Amino acid sequence: MEKKDFFENKSKTYSKDSKRVRNVQTIANGILDKVNYTKDMHIMDFGSGTGLLSIEIAPYVGKITGIDMSKSMNEELEANKDLVDCDLEILELDLSKSDINKKFDGIISSMTLHHVEDIVELLKKFHNMLDEGGTIALSDLYTEDGTFHSEDTGVFHFGFDEEFIVQCAKKAGFRQLEISQVSVAKKPHKEFPIFLLTGLK
Ligand SMILES: C[S@@+](CC[C@H](N)C(=O)[O-])C[C@H]1O[C@@H](n2cnc3c(N)ncnc32)[C@H](O)[C@@H]1O
Repeated sequence: MEKKDFFENKSKTYSKDSKRVRNVQTIANGILDKVNYTKDMHIMDFGSGTGLLSIEIAPYVGKITGIDMSKSMNEELEANKDLVDCDLEILELDLSKSDINKKFDGIISSMTLHHVEDIVELLKKFHNMLDEGGTIALSDLYTEDGTFHSEDTGVFHFGFDEEFIVQCAKKAGFRQLEISQVSVAKKPHKEFPIFLLTGLK
């Protein structure tokens, strides 16, 4: 069966939305305030999309593996790869349905968790993919009323409560968990606060 590419109609213009770019830059600054990266580190960006988060984190790490199931978003990242100031590998796969045999020093993600149904399973997978002491820095929407998305991009959660997402990360084995608001996505009809969850394997 042909896989549906939920971002096919958005990929070309995705990085052209200045509010979206600023939001991800703010998230990246929040991540860099909380997590120490070094140039020998290999990081995974889950749901890397067109690379908005990877571009901001790249100068501080050695290599980023971007994982994304959307062919069209991966093509945009490939086209933007000169903006990613470290080694870059792009893997096209649905991480909720497949496993990869790689280990990372850290995992970053922005605005992607709400597209995955089983968060504990995903976070267990992240835990397995990290070396001991490896970090997570995961950012997404706080619980919203369902009006954030105007079209179907494969949404399973209308954001998350702090308590829920922290408990999921605990169940997956993460420690030293911290969560706080890091940014706000501004839409014409409403503002949507965004959290950053950090922790250690
Ligand atoms: C809203 S975009 C965010 C892109 C980027 N992180 C940013 O902040 O600009 C979500 C991305 O996650 C990808 N995605 C969603 N579920 C996924 C999964 N199970 N495995 C891999 N990629 C996934 C989508 O294809 C999409 O490119």
